[in-house]
Amino acid sequence: RPTLRVALLGCGNVGSDVARIMLRDADELEQRIGARLELAGVAVRRLDRDRGVDLDPALVTTDAAALVTRDDVDIVVEVIGGIEPARELILSALASGKSVVTANKALLAEDGETLADAAAAADRDLYFEAAVAGAIPIVRPLRDSLAGDHVHRVLGIVNGTTNYVLDAMTTTGAGFSDALDKAQELGYAEADPTADVEGFDAAAKAAILASLAFHTRVTSADVYREGITEVSATDVRAAAEMGCVVKLLAICERLDTPSGSAVSARVHPVMIPDSHPLASVREAYNAVFVESESAGQLMFYGPGAGGPPSASAVMGDLMGVARHRLLGVRGPAESMHARAEVLDIGRA
Ligand code: HSE
Repeated sequence: RPTLRVALLGCGNVGSDVARIMLRDADELEQRIGARLELAGVAVRRLDRDRGVDLDPALVTTDAAALVTRDDVDIVVEVIGGIEPARELILSALASGKSVVTANKALLAEDGETLADAAAAADRDLYFEAAVAGAIPIVRPLRDSLAGDHVHRVLGIVNGTTNYVLDAMTTTGAGFSDALDKAQELGYAEADPTADVEGFDAAAKAAILASLAFHTRVTSADVYREGITEVSATDVRAAAEMGCVVKLLAICERLDTPSGSAVSARVHPVMIPDSHPLASVREAYNAVFVESESAGQLMFYGPGAGGPPSASAVMGDLMGVARHRLLGVRGPAESMHARAEVLDIGRA
């Protein structure tokens, strides 16, 4: 059987789980795809850290740039996050003919166009299921399963931390800060929760969802954004009295305009009726609700963050791109460069 060699960039929460699954399930994965997936190297920032996975020390390197261009590497998995050096590493990997799997929502939302162009020029896969809503399959359904439909609207609870905080406020009557303290105590919220509570994380995901759903290019800068810091216990109680819950939603819509169609993407707290399927999304779970012309309404639900759920999405991508390499083909790719009119309509 052939062997496909994988370079892993980053060995934190997600990366160490990917490495663990690859090592533990090597035989089974080989059966499933007809090729052996082998770790060619793992790039880390510091060598002296215990990563909870039994890696051959010879595989571990701090030289990610050299690893991604090595001749014996077929697939690069990027789970470092952030804009640089992730962008340079992905571009260099694609230019060297590697297929790429990334979980990097910030980079895709800021500059997905450059990555998509580089993947097209290299005729290689660029897969990123883990970038939006962790384990929930939503990138591939939008890119692939719904490619022949017309998506009208995507509504997402795509940030687990804020959903946890709003849910705690709803169930306990607590104010925002107390609920956030509890989320931090339980490890849901980061020590610096700004990206979550101010809606930056959800806005990046909204940009990616809107780009995929509407076959266009929306960046984080196009997304109207309001977080949950101003939501009070009184707001939550008033919503409950009206039979509603407060959720932080990413809302992506196609809108008809006199000059054709435009898209809008926004993130802000919304009162939704208890009867809406998104109202039942509790704690730190995520869900994405899609409305399309032929399929109608679809809801995708599950864990939106964490090492193992994100590793599940990365592994699915890895299996997909491995199969494509064996067949010498490229999988579904979105043209993230055709730019539609993006309306800045804010909160509506
Ligand atoms: N901080 C994010 C969340 C993690 O709370 O959902 C995944 O992007």
